[in-house]
Amino acid sequence: MEPSIAEENGPEGVVAYVVCSMSDIPSQRARGFELMKVEDGVEKPFNLIVVRWGRQVFGYVNLCPHDGVKLDWERNQFLDPNGIRLMCGKHGALFELGTGVCIEGPCKGRSLTPVALSIIDNDICVTGVTLAEEEEDEDDEEITSCSDEGGGV
Ligand code: FES
Repeated sequence: MEPSIAEENGPEGVVAYVVCSMSDIPSQRARGFELMKVEDGVEKPFNLIVVRWGRQVFGYVNLCPHDGVKLDWERNQFLDPNGIRLMCGKHGALFELGTGVCIEGPCKGRSLTPVALSIIDNDICVTGVTLAEEEEDEDDEEITSCSDEGGGV
C-alpha cells in the first residue's frame, strides 16, 4: 500500500511529510513504507521502517547493513519473536529498537540508518528528506489514511 504524502510545517519551519497517523501503527509494532525521495533532482526509492512504542516513534531506512537487503522478508515482519528488537529476516541480525544498533548477528556493531521523525497533530511525519509526491491530482493537504492490515494490540 502506498501512502499518499502530505506536507506539513514541522518544528522550526522544517518540511515534514505525513507518512501515516499514529493510530495506523499499534504500540510495540513496526511497519514498512515504500516511498520515493528526491536527491539531487533524482527520485530514488526510500524504504522506511517506523517503530512505534507508546508515544515514541523511531525511523530507520529499511536496509540491513549486512547484505543491503530489506529486513522484512515477510512483509511488515520487522520484530524478533519477543517483539523487542528489529530483526533482519535473512540472517537474523538483531537491532535495538531505539538506536538501530545491531547487537547480535553478522553485522554486530553496525547500525541501521536513522530517519528523523516527528509527531505533528497525531501524524507520524518524516523530516530531513524531500519526498517525491505520489499523487498529482490533489493540491489540498491530505491526511494520509493507511490501511488497517496487521491488526495487533
Ligand atoms: S542480510 Fe541482514 S543479517 Fe544478513
